[in-house]
Amino acid sequence: KLPSEVKLVEVGARDGLQNESTFVPTDVKVELIHRLADAGMPFVSPKWVPQMADNEAVVKRLKRKPGVSYPALVPNVQGYKQARECGVDEIAIFTTASETFCKKNTNCDVATSLKRIEDIMSLALGDGVKVRGYVSCIVGCPYEGFVSPSATAKVAKKLYDMGCYEISLGDTIGVGTPGSLVPLVNEVKLHVPVEKLAIHCHDTYGQALANILAVMQTGVQIIDCSVGGLGGCPYANGASGNVSSEDVVYLMAGLGVKTGVDLPKLLEAGDFICKNIGRKSSSKVASATGAC
Ligand code: HMG
Ligand code: MG
Repeated sequence: KLPSEVKLVEVGARDGLQNESTFVPTDVKVELIHRLADAGMPFVSPKWVPQMADNEAVVKRLKRKPGVSYPALVPNVQGYKQARECGVDEIAIFTTASETFCKKNTNCDVATSLKRIEDIMSLALGDGVKVRGYVSCIVGCPYEGFVSPSATAKVAKKLYDMGCYEISLGDTIGVGTPGSLVPLVNEVKLHVPVEKLAIHCHDTYGQALANILAVMQTGVQIIDCSVGGLGGCPYANGASGNVSSEDVVYLMAGLGVKTGVDLPKLLEAGDFICKNIGRKSSSKVASATGAC
């Protein structure tokens, strides 16, 4: 059974661009975010990698649309304070069950990462700031290989218990299939209500749409995606290719599942960013319709 509607969370401005080695001008980032919000996509924005060095300027220049959330990813209290100073009112935090990935991505072990998150949470909850939680490498890690569902579920539960309003489960290197993701989600569901779970798929192995469809059948109704299929994680080799927003929207339309997203406007936003960064879109829908 499928839900009648899903919430899509656009991560293109952050996860999409964080892997670009050539600096994307501030104007282009701001314009991309405006175009995505115009297409009806809520989205996630800046964080701390060189590509995001202009995150304050981007956030300050946004013309915010009512009803759209503009959360910023923050790794520590320092990032939280900086984000707040430039007017961010919703944040996202991230961790993982993999010790090696945690160390590479945030320069600390998992216990320290959870402690940092606890510190951020106590400030954020006190400030009335909503916090989205990400768990990365949910079934596989580029350094450690297999990650057990119970280890991922334990971390997801911790983030939920700390007060995250939503937990995004990230198959960061795209190794999952319905065969591993469905049992994983079923395990996490024992600890976190399914309506609080999002799935964050990468299409590295071509499994993303199949995974999303399978996971939706377990009750998940929130899907992360990235315009043009841009993105990856700079600290996870092989993490290229978030699932493309255009392809997810097309799939949902075909299933009669509401997204509230205007596909032609989204295709235009994809064309805009791909031309500006000199990349070919990895959205099949964009190629098929000649939009990119
Ligand atoms: P560290 O080097 O251990 O930090 O990095 P530190 O506390 O030792 O500080 C070192 C320097 O960085 C100091 O400056 C700090 O002030 C500065 P210095 O005194 O040398 O001039 N610093 C900061 N500057 C700006 N903003 C800050 C900040 N914090 C410290 N927030 C740290 C530790 C966590 C900061 C670093 O490892 C880091 O930023 N990691 C984040 C990397 C990242 O963004 N990775 C991609 C995340 S996406 C993801 O994980 C997956 C996801 O997309 C979903 C999926 O696909 O699965 C969410
Ligand atoms: Mg990602």
